[in-house]
Amino acid sequence: MSTHAAAKRLTAPDIARRKGGEPIVALTSYHAHTAAIADKYVDFLLVGDSLGMVMHGFESTLPVPLDLMIMHGRAVMRGARRALVVVDMPFGSYEESPSHAFHNAAKVIKETQCGAIKLEGGRRMAETIHFLTERGIPVMSHIGLTPQSINVLGGFRTQGRSRDQWAAIEEDARVVSEAGAFAVVLEAITEPLAAKITKAIPIPTIGIGASAQCDGQILVMEDMLGLAPRVPKFVKEFGKIGAAIEGAIRSYAEDVRARNFPGDEHTYEVKD
Ligand code: KIV
Repeated sequence: MSTHAAAKRLTAPDIARRKGGEPIVALTSYHAHTAAIADKYVDFLLVGDSLGMVMHGFESTLPVPLDLMIMHGRAVMRGARRALVVVDMPFGSYEESPSHAFHNAAKVIKETQCGAIKLEGGRRMAETIHFLTERGIPVMSHIGLTPQSINVLGGFRTQGRSRDQWAAIEEDARVVSEAGAFAVVLEAITEPLAAKITKAIPIPTIGIGASAQCDGQILVMEDMLGLAPRVPKFVKEFGKIGAAIEGAIRSYAEDVRARNFPGDEHTYEVKD
């Protein structure tokens, strides 16, 4: 076996060991450049199927094909050297049976070389989570608001607002943990429920709109950068990148219209 001196990349077990420790920092990423920028600050990067809405203009995540996830997964793997890269399994690629899920998850791992996959669903996906983890595929689970079930849920709303919804979500968390998931995303659930689940299960909870009671947080990068046209209320914007891009493009258009074309040395050498 050969060894090499590349920077050590975080693994699914590294993330699992962070339970109850320093908060886990995560972002979505869909391209090599943003992955390279985020790499030194985050513990894992998720190539989320939200890329269908954020990058490709779909109304939901449902139309996203497996090959698109693989293409973006490869780009993120080329950009990030240190962070664990997790690739989402898109709608229709894993629900049918554990062996169908294995076939597609193995394709994702082989073709992207990412360190883990994520799939949506609690109790109903337990058998599949067990099947995959037993066969060498680390699985991050995703419960609460699961966007691939949007047509069943009827909209993007906080889950667990009424206490009688809690038991099912708590059960989902317990079951995916017992099935072998190394972490679980809790999307859009109330703070007391997130606190209860985080205390009850031995794997890290990664919140998105689920309060600081989780073991870590993930946000869609474009949302926190201020690049998305509409963001959910819980999103804190750390930048105004959309406005910065528009300002830069406006200046560029003015420059070109003024025939102010740059560069008279006609060289493609890269700037220092
Ligand atoms: O697809 C995605 O970006 C996600 C996050 C919202 C967790 O699943």
